Amino acid sequence: MTIGERERTTASHILERCMANGLSAEVAVARLALHLQPGVKPAELADIALGMRSHAPRRRGWLDEVAMLLSQKEISFDDLRTTAASVRHDRLGDETHEMIVSRLASSFDRAAAISPAASVQLSSLGDEEKLSAATAEIASWLEQQGFLGRDKTILDIGCGIGRFESALHQRVKRIVGIDISARMLDIARRRCAGLGNVEFRRTSGLDLGEFVAGGFDGVLAVDCFPYLVLAGVADRHFSEIARLLRPGGLAAILNYSYRMSPVVDSSDVRHLAHACAMDVVVDGELPFRRWDGTAFLVRRSGGT
Ligand SMILES: C[S@@+](CC[C@H](N)C(=O)[O-])C[C@H]1O[C@@H](n2cnc3c(N)ncnc32)[C@H](O)[C@@H]1O
Repeated sequence: MTIGERERTTASHILERCMANGLSAEVAVARLALHLQPGVKPAELADIALGMRSHAPRRRGWLDEVAMLLSQKEISFDDLRTTAASVRHDRLGDETHEMIVSRLASSFDRAAAISPAASVQLSSLGDEEKLSAATAEIASWLEQQGFLGRDKTILDIGCGIGRFESALHQRVKRIVGIDISARMLDIARRRCAGLGNVEFRRTSGLDLGEFVAGGFDGVLAVDCFPYLVLAGVADRHFSEIARLLRPGGLAAILNYSYRMSPVVDSSDVRHLAHACAMDVVVDGELPFRRWDGTAFLVRRSGGT
């Protein structure tokens, strides 16, 4: 199929927006895979990117990089699309909370079977090295926020394939990763085999009732809250996080929802934080280049 005018316009908008927001070429390629019709070929998109070049060196270099990624044989555009399509982000009919959580668990099992790296971050393009670079960027942001420390115990909600446990275990006392997907947890356990201060558990996905109050210095949720919002269990998790955190403890919620409204997300997070006597320290910033996630950091009152 030859690319139509509408798809061509969508592709150019995606590329212009990513450039304007300082995002990486990988994020742009992931967005192209996500938003364009399956029939559109990567080579056609590479031509569009090359056609948008100007003499400005930064613009030229970035668009060259996009075209190069789209031409690489080892990056399967189809795998990105099928990984993304494994997980539906809408509600089906009269699903209960339990039914949505169970559907998501099977969906993430399927996604992880296609591409573990793309199943947790599409802009890794399914490549473990790119995923590590993106993880390192998020880890250094967490460090700057004072979230990490050799005396800190961290809970990671929706830990996926355990990339944060692997990246952070030397910078914390203990880290517990929980997830609803058995396949994700299998991969996570293999990735972190032999790490003494890392633990993984399968969770119900409905609440955090298995953990004692005040047991954690930090709670991490990277791209997991959108699924809690979808399943209707986000408010419950938010108040549970407040219960689990020690006074002064931090919750890093990276991406709150996929409703595409930063104003609504920010208002919901502020409202929930207020209801749980927590303070919003970072309110919906976009601090990353290698991932287009939105950052919220919330602190439990008290402590130093
Ligand atoms: C996009 S992945 C991100 C994984 C990981 N945080 C990362 O960034 O590498 C979302 C993860 O959330 C998990 N998840 C979805 N709903 C959940 C729930 N109710 N409780 C715990 N985990 C959940 C999925 O199984 C999946 O592993």
